[in-house]
Amino acid sequence: MLKLGVLVLVFVGYWVDQKICVEGLGVNWGTMATHMLEPKIVVQMLKDNGIKKVKLFDADKSTMDALAGTDIEVMVAIPNDQLLAMTDYGRAKDWVRRNVTRYNFKDGVNIKYVAVGNEPFLTAYNNSFVNSTFPALQNIQNALNEAGVGDSIKATVPLNADVYFSPESNPVPSAGRFRSDIAELMTQIVQFMSKNQAPFTVNIYPFLSLYANEHFPIDFAFFDGAPSPVLDNGVEYTNVFDANFDTLYSALKAVGYGNLAILVGEVGWPTDGDKNANLNNAYRFYRGLLAKLASNKGTPLRPGYIEVYLFGLIDEDAKSIAPGNFERHWGIFRYDGQPKFPMDISGQGQDRHLVAAKNVQYLPKRWCMLNPNAKDLSKLAENIDYACTFSDCTALGYGSSCNNLDANGNASYAFNMYYQVQNQLDLSCDFQGLAMVTDKNLSQGTCNFIIQTGKYSFSHKVLPGIVVLLSGFTFLLL
Ligand SMILES: *[C@@H]1O[C@H](CO)[C@@H](O)[C@H](O)[C@H]1NC(C)=O
Ligand SMILES: *[C@@H]1O[C@H](CO)[C@@H](O)[C@H](O)[C@H]1NC(C)=O
Ligand SMILES: *[C@@H]1O[C@H](CO)[C@@H](O)[C@H](O)[C@H]1NC(C)=O
Ligand SMILES: *[C@@H]1O[C@H](CO)[C@@H](O)[C@H](O)[C@H]1NC(C)=O
Ligand SMILES: *[C@@H]1O[C@H](CO)[C@@H](O)[C@H](O)[C@H]1NC(C)=O
Repeated sequence: MLKLGVLVLVFVGYWVDQKICVEGLGVNWGTMATHMLEPKIVVQMLKDNGIKKVKLFDADKSTMDALAGTDIEVMVAIPNDQLLAMTDYGRAKDWVRRNVTRYNFKDGVNIKYVAVGNEPFLTAYNNSFVNSTFPALQNIQNALNEAGVGDSIKATVPLNADVYFSPESNPVPSAGRFRSDIAELMTQIVQFMSKNQAPFTVNIYPFLSLYANEHFPIDFAFFDGAPSPVLDNGVEYTNVFDANFDTLYSALKAVGYGNLAILVGEVGWPTDGDKNANLNNAYRFYRGLLAKLASNKGTPLRPGYIEVYLFGLIDEDAKSIAPGNFERHWGIFRYDGQPKFPMDISGQGQDRHLVAAKNVQYLPKRWCMLNPNAKDLSKLAENIDYACTFSDCTALGYGSSCNNLDANGNASYAFNMYYQVQNQLDLSCDFQGLAMVTDKNLSQGTCNFIIQTGKYSFSHKVLPGIVVLLSGFTFLLL
């Protein structure tokens, strides 16, 4: 019996590995990168891995065109800086026409949701979007309804988990309430979503709980049990994901909407840029999360299936690092579409790698390094600083993959990152005579000296920055 069981498991496992992922599992596809992979390469990669849902941060035409004709379900998005414009119903209708209904034809794009803003009520945003988000949400959903697609396409607002909390006097999930400064607004939003059968979207980040609080019990961030669970009316919480999700559930219930669908818009673990952001922790986190999702166990207060979008798909080297150096390392794939660690998205816990992106073009195998014969090093620091201002040096920081380089290694790393961002332009590996090009791979230990991808090159969104940067370079030479 046992033998047969094992055999069947192995067989099913093999089959599962080919196409299937956790039912309904989605990924966030962000594009804040200096070198984006071609959208059709990314879409093929999604298909190869059996991923059937993506969440975007805009409705970029090249991305949408690549998704057209696939059955991949898509969440398009309205960035925060367009929320104010969407408070005008005419503009909202226009947006829906240009970015939603235009793709609504046979072999078009399978749009399911429109994300109205992205975490607009973050306290860090200083109330900037507090007045525009709800009117924008109403206008977009009403425009979808008016266009006749409101039954299948829902407007939602991806919110940060800081829109709700449990009081310090009773820090348990069942005491969850909406943040007092926006409680009334949240109630109206939830009421509107409920009326339109749209889901509440929340981003939950156990990594950030750990990052923000050095006393946070680390095991509680993962899914394999915690030595001292949180007890709440007889319910045991052993991970912060469940506790967080149920805090939201309780906040919804408290305002009379305990039945509203909840979708997790972002959840994931970064692999570099902080002492807790590494491959082992990411592996452990996803292994637990995916097994949990595959089991359809849900949370103590909301058992059953949870719709979840992982954050994120591919590393983005042009993201703001204001929240922390880890921001550029959220991808389950590297910048070039290579998987980083074993991850079984079927949730069966098999240590296989995801299927890598195919047909990725790279720049030639050339690196930029500190010239060992450079005599005058007095300007080295400012040149490193310059290189790192316009490229991604976050792997050099404390606890990161390149933190153990010596001073020369640091300089070479910085120069190379800049050189690669600049598509290996000769001029970009000079640094006032301090740098030289080499065809020797400078990678050492955990520190990868990368070669950037070529051909498709710059994301148009980052391009203006690069132009400025080139003139900045000229400026530096003067
Ligand atoms: C919506 O579509 C228009 C027209 O193609 C485009 O200019 C705009 O950037 C799109 N909006 C977003 C958020 O991508
Ligand atoms: C937030 O508002 C305060 C006071 O109005 C201001 O001092 C601060 O600079 C603002 N911060 C941001 C990020 O806008
Ligand atoms: C939002 O609107 C209220 C009421 O009109 C106003 O008092 C408040 O200053 C506005 N807040 C922001 C951040 O614009
Ligand atoms: C290399 O750079 C990192 C980040 O700037 C710094 O923490 C580290 O001390 C540097 N190492 C040396 C040997 O200069
Ligand atoms: C450089 O060497 C590292 C470590 O051996 C390796 O992982 C990487 O693939 C190499 N890079 C290239 C472009 O060959």
